[in-house]
Amino acid sequence: MFKGRPVGIVGLGAYAPPKRLTNFDLEKMVDTSDEWITERTGIKERRIAEGSVATSDLAVKAAEKAIESAGVSRDEIQFIICATASPDMLFPPTACIVQDKLGIPNAGAFDLEAGCTGFMYALSVASQFVALGTYDTVLVLGAEVLSKFLDWQDRTTCILFADAGAAAVVKAVPEGFGILSFHLSAGDHTTELIHMPAGGSLNPASHETVDRRMHYVKMLGNEVFRSAILKMEETAHIVVEKAGLTLDDIDLYVPHQANIRIIDAVVKRLKIPREKLYVNLQSYGNTSCASIPLALYEAIEKGKVKPGCNILMTAVGAGLTWGGMVMRWNGTGGK
Ligand code: ACO
Repeated sequence: MFKGRPVGIVGLGAYAPPKRLTNFDLEKMVDTSDEWITERTGIKERRIAEGSVATSDLAVKAAEKAIESAGVSRDEIQFIICATASPDMLFPPTACIVQDKLGIPNAGAFDLEAGCTGFMYALSVASQFVALGTYDTVLVLGAEVLSKFLDWQDRTTCILFADAGAAAVVKAVPEGFGILSFHLSAGDHTTELIHMPAGGSLNPASHETVDRRMHYVKMLGNEVFRSAILKMEETAHIVVEKAGLTLDDIDLYVPHQANIRIIDAVVKRLKIPREKLYVNLQSYGNTSCASIPLALYEAIEKGKVKPGCNILMTAVGAGLTWGGMVMRWNGTGGK
């Protein structure tokens, strides 16, 4: 059960860059087909950041919406956490760049890297700051420009990942609402499952690393696929039980939007009816840290999230990391 004062999202925002890259566009770039991508992943198109647009730019646009929706002023924000696997630079933290661009004075700011589970991690960390009364208002970001780290000659990865930003303003909420439980975990440490081998201290950038295409996402898709199903199912059971609920009490399931076959397998195992599931990966692909809040934002926009609604969220990402949350919607935070 969640300890401390109740905490929830009081403002949510999301932004995807306007350029659409369809499966038909990809057919012209690598040896693939719309049929293969649709059948194996569920993705039809994705958004790509063009030119010099960086992760912080998408995060800023999402944060502006979240801040407006929350009705807070920028100087009320005391802390910024940016979950990302594709920061603007290795340092400074992208959270600091966003802080500067938004003109938020004196807030603490740091980045959190937990693969595609990043937003679940960041929201949980923020919730603890607010639950304990350490801070009253925390801005949580999940943003990616993964397209710049994709090998556009590798059909096994370039069809999956894409770009988007999302943001949540986290504050205390009325008793009985907000985050009811969370669970964060990591293990099965097989770096090769999903990794970008070069650009860090292990393999700093060199002509050789560039020639060997080591600055791109590498993934053993099949193995990630199997783990993702097991970990998302396990996490769902844990967070629902910790919240003192059963799966029948869940009104909306917003899973990490990686692959429709992963999601289908998880809902089948959990026996969650399709009408309680929200999926938007067909339009955005896998946007990693932005994926869950982007889907939740859309679900709210479409009127699928009513006050009191119990929302289940689960994710799996590079590490491997995995985690999830149950949140009772407090009736604010949408448009
Ligand atoms: N177009 C056409 N054929 C392809 C493509 C493509 N884009 N990609 C792979 N293939 C081929 C393979 O080469 C292989 O051919 P072969 O049989 O001649 O060797 C065949 O299709 C089957 O390949 P598999 O890898 O077995 O295909 P699978 O059904 O597993 O689908 C996929 C691959 C989509 C990557 C899947 O494994 C997957 O989604 N895995 C999970 C990935 C994921 O979700 N990652 C992110 C989660 S964690 C995170 O978000 C960071």
